[in-house]
Amino acid sequence: METKEKTLIFEPYNLNGLTLNNRIVMAPMTRSRADNKAHTATELTALYYSQRATAGLIITGGTFISPEAVGVINVPTIYSKEQIEGWRLTTDAVHKNGGKIFAQLWHTGAYSHPDVLGGNLPLAPSANNPLLQVFTPEGFKESVVAREMALEDIKRTIVDFKQAAINAFDAGFDGVELHGANGYLLQQFFSKNSNWRTDAYGGSIENRARILFDILDELKAAVDITRVGVRLNPSLDGLMGISVDNETIAVYDYIVNRLNNYRLAYIHLLEPFTDVSANPNAIQEVAKHFRKIYKGTLIINRGFNKETANEVLSDGDADLVSFGSPFISNPDLVERFKANAPLNDVDKETLYTPGAKGYTDYPTLK
Ligand SMILES: Cc1cc2nc3c(=O)[nH]c(=O)nc-3n(C[C@H](O)[C@H](O)[C@H](O)COP(=O)(O)O)c2cc1C
Repeated sequence: METKEKTLIFEPYNLNGLTLNNRIVMAPMTRSRADNKAHTATELTALYYSQRATAGLIITGGTFISPEAVGVINVPTIYSKEQIEGWRLTTDAVHKNGGKIFAQLWHTGAYSHPDVLGGNLPLAPSANNPLLQVFTPEGFKESVVAREMALEDIKRTIVDFKQAAINAFDAGFDGVELHGANGYLLQQFFSKNSNWRTDAYGGSIENRARILFDILDELKAAVDITRVGVRLNPSLDGLMGISVDNETIAVYDYIVNRLNNYRLAYIHLLEPFTDVSANPNAIQEVAKHFRKIYKGTLIINRGFNKETANEVLSDGDADLVSFGSPFISNPDLVERFKANAPLNDVDKETLYTPGAKGYTDYPTLK
């Protein structure tokens, strides 16, 4: 039993027919290296991800589904032919190294700025200013009041998600993950504090969740839904423009329950970012809570190390564990875990700066 618990993270996993070499997932992380005019993934992007291909599954940093989804500079995006070709370098390199890779599809909603939107206002469920700092070409700038999406904006966005998914499969990705977490467009719809619409996309729990299911229904008709994952951050509170409220638990219970009706690749959940222990409206133990509700594959994230990852798997609360920061500075994280080797520290200065420094130059054990 002792040995079993120690090695569970290294065991292969069957993700709807896709064999993952282990249960260690690289969490999606924006690194802002596409400092080229067309915002394409480059050879450098390909090198970065291929260095990390011993992860059972890689999820790319969020990639924008359309020009109006943009909210951060220098992100490699996925709406043009050139961008699809750019990403092919990455998917080929990862596959060549024996890895599997999903693209995270991203729309930032109100968490954006006219400076990255060609002068246009960010689109959001309601005319809200999330009061956040946005990474623009001239450095961080305060967000503005977004423009409330008309029904036709919502319809177009749903189609943009579908087209981006088609593009991702075209580019050779093994699947896609919808970014429904961290205060971006989809979570802005779910949350009462950022959605005060009175139409079919606001008000009731069902209405606030509607856009996610509209997107999934659209995707279902166009791509293999068993290769689509959804990321959620149910206990996000007081950060990224989102607060927990008296219906938060009910909203996420509804969403996750309903996701059982889709044969998704997985749901990817985050444990609380902050201490929510004093808040009765917040889910304290996210994996434990949703494990009882969700019947498919569950990936859990945030703050795990080798030991706690093994623990959450052997307790049966998750099927896969994703690691963010540890993968930034340890391309060979899996090998290091196997060897019980020390981990490199993350250089915070180079998280979002252009070039190879702090991106592809972290040392491996070898
Ligand atoms: C530099 C950086 C960029 C990130 N970008 C994204 C992103 O694009 N999409 C996303 O869902 N989460 C993003 N995250 C959150 C990570 O996926 C992950 O949830 C977080 O790092 C916590 O996991 P960890 O404790 O293993 O680092 C980012 C985190 C970091 C450190």
